[in-house]
Amino acid sequence: MHHKSTIDNYQIDNSSRQIPPFPVTIPSLVLTLMIVAIANQKGGVGKTTTAINLAAALALRGKRTLLIDLDPQANSTMSFLDIGQVVRSVYDAIADPAVALQDVILPTGLEKLWVAPSRIALAKLEAKLVGEMDAHFRLKDKLAPVRKDYPHVVIDCPPTLGLLTVNALVAATHLLIPIQSSYFALEGTDDLLETIEKVRARPNPALRILGVVITMHDKRTALARDIRAQIQKVFGGKVFKTVITKSVRLEESPAYRESIFTFAPDSSGATEYYRLCEEMMDRA
Ligand SMILES: Nc1ncnc2c1ncn2[C@@H]1O[C@H](COP(=O)(O)OP(=O)(O)OP(=O)(O)O)[C@@H](O)[C@H]1O
Ligand SMILES: [Mg+2]
Repeated sequence: MHHKSTIDNYQIDNSSRQIPPFPVTIPSLVLTLMIVAIANQKGGVGKTTTAINLAAALALRGKRTLLIDLDPQANSTMSFLDIGQVVRSVYDAIADPAVALQDVILPTGLEKLWVAPSRIALAKLEAKLVGEMDAHFRLKDKLAPVRKDYPHVVIDCPPTLGLLTVNALVAATHLLIPIQSSYFALEGTDDLLETIEKVRARPNPALRILGVVITMHDKRTALARDIRAQIQKVFGGKVFKTVITKSVRLEESPAYRESIFTFAPDSSGATEYYRLCEEMMDRA
């Protein structure tokens, strides 16, 4: 009884309070602006698989999400769209001042997910922008007007440390590095870290390394456990607790133009990428 009256008293006190005249920050209405670059110059480590499924996970959590495909191979694009539908690509938006990023963005089969598609033309971008003063800032500048429409952006990078990846690192607020669970996993990470430090030194000091995700892990082998320990030794707390294990389902889903969540919702890949998304949001 005493307890209840305390609550009642509190409520009365509270209701007699003045409502603040100005709207104060209401957390649920604040848009989380998050631009995550998925980068590693090593080929075939799971960048695209991570980008498409993280973007899908964000969309399924109700976040308006834009997946930007910066790889001329266009694997992310083809995971959601028929490449024949793609008339204009990120290349046009970056290379042509008259084309806005919004002009090239296409909807996908997922309600809250959009794709800024790639085409092979992106491979010409480096040559096209050589000598341009703002070459590293093109994507950042083109993204600025659409940030309010897509509070979550995921960028799939090509397997190089060239101009495209640098554009992604300059535009990004966060970086996620997939590392394949393989014997040569850590080879080349020095170059990647050096590039990140260069970007942080000047064009984008706010860039945060969100974490390292181990991909294509095979829990059963001792070698894989050793590799995981090695990666943990180098990256410490940056390694995500969620590890992406090897799964045929993850390989298959792009061929059906689906993310893992609709293609095989009960698979380990779906559970793991959903958890990775949660862990990522907690860290952001
Ligand atoms: N967890 C996984 N289990 C099984 N296969 C996987 C897994 N992750 C990725 N793959 C497969 O490995 C290959 C390389 O993956 P992915 O394309 O995601 O790497 P990438 O880093 O984007 O490659 P690239 O450097 O060429 O862009 C693909 O065939 C993909 O389907
Ligand atoms: Mg790729």
